[in-house]
Amino acid sequence: MSRPTIEREDASRTPRGASAITFPPRFLWGTATSSHQVEGEQTQSDWAAWEARRGRIHGGDRAGRACEWWAGRAEEDFERARTMGHGAIRLSLEWSRLEPRPGVFDEAAFDRYARMLEKARAIGLTTMVGLDHFTLPYWLAVRGSWLAEEAPDRFARYADRCARRLGDLVPLWTTLNEPSVLAFMAYVGKAWPPGLGNPVLGARALRAQLVAHGAAYHAVHDARRDAQVGLVLNLPAIDPYDSTSARDRAVATAQDWAFNGVVLDALAHARLRFPLALREESAPVLRGPNGPALDFVGLNYYGRYRVRFDARHPAELFGRRDARETVHTESNDWGEIHPEGLTRQLMRLARAFPRMPLYVTENGMFDPSDTRRPSYLVSHVRAVHDAIAQGADVRGYFVWSLIDNFEWAEGWSTPFGLLALDRTTQARTARRSADVYSAICRANGVSDALEA
Ligand code: FCB
Repeated sequence: MSRPTIEREDASRTPRGASAITFPPRFLWGTATSSHQVEGEQTQSDWAAWEARRGRIHGGDRAGRACEWWAGRAEEDFERARTMGHGAIRLSLEWSRLEPRPGVFDEAAFDRYARMLEKARAIGLTTMVGLDHFTLPYWLAVRGSWLAEEAPDRFARYADRCARRLGDLVPLWTTLNEPSVLAFMAYVGKAWPPGLGNPVLGARALRAQLVAHGAAYHAVHDARRDAQVGLVLNLPAIDPYDSTSARDRAVATAQDWAFNGVVLDALAHARLRFPLALREESAPVLRGPNGPALDFVGLNYYGRYRVRFDARHPAELFGRRDARETVHTESNDWGEIHPEGLTRQLMRLARAFPRMPLYVTENGMFDPSDTRRPSYLVSHVRAVHDAIAQGADVRGYFVWSLIDNFEWAEGWSTPFGLLALDRTTQARTARRSADVYSAICRANGVSDALEA
């Protein structure tokens, strides 16, 4: 294969910040991706079917060829990441490829992933591999997606197969990605498949995913004793718009519980509380040998939501997000840029799970002109450093994303990549953010030179 090329964008502007900081030795610096968003030629999932329906995706976009990872470009992009000084990459396996029919596994698809993972290892990129990142096999979707009674058990059997087949190549496994986000976008809301628009079903889907996480955690460990298995959570900071207003504070607390708190509580105490269950129930599947069924926690963090009391929004627990200062599109909102929230959520995890290794598994922003992203990255890297200084055992940081990719209901309209993708030619162009992030990786922190 020829050496991958990366073109350069103008590097005349530099971010501003404070003094130099250094991270612990062996800290992992990487980027995150997911199968459906980058692979292309993916036809057997609920998402492939969803994209084919009118009006579902911004501009009628489809993932299509995506970044052609399945066709062979994953390896090139791994080399680019390595050339830029990264030490790690987060990717996911596509369940619908590996188990195209219930109980029937595709060995050729396993071979393709094995080749990708071997390449990453050969060039010194540590992999964090997700068993699932939002998409489900179509055969499970027609049976009810996460509401199908068999779903957690099916997921555990698939996890067992992946651990046996690929375990030698995977130092860090994750089970699911952002169960709360999926529950809200696809079950409470209607933006993602199955698009049910029902809060009661949202709570059921969230509960099923937590059970599935526990079942998969045990399945991977049964298959491979030495495995490291985590779960990836999206924990936005949720604050009252006006902290002197009791009603704003109440709705912020309620939203934080429904999205963040109830999940942390379930994982930390192996129990299901409202709205996951009407009355508190214990959940033994969430218990591991020495505490929670978790070897590490992944935190995806984008920003902060400020919420006001609004009686017209019962479905949002009477809290309306203030979107004036947020990074948003017409249909999605990643919150206000608020690096302190990242420190806060890491410390919250450190308190909920004492001595647990933590990773920032996603952080980034879509920024077509790449004017704000460089300083976003530097300020959030500083926020991670603050959490480490306060005692959190953070082991790595992954930017979302290595390359522009198919952003779910936003289609191709929200470029998150360090590398810009030309979808016609498949050329990759490094944005200025890519250079800034390279400098962070190489310095293992933020150097004086980067500040200057
Ligand atoms: C996260 C998802 C990821 C991507 C980023 C922008 O919530 O995990 O797939 O969509 O947001």
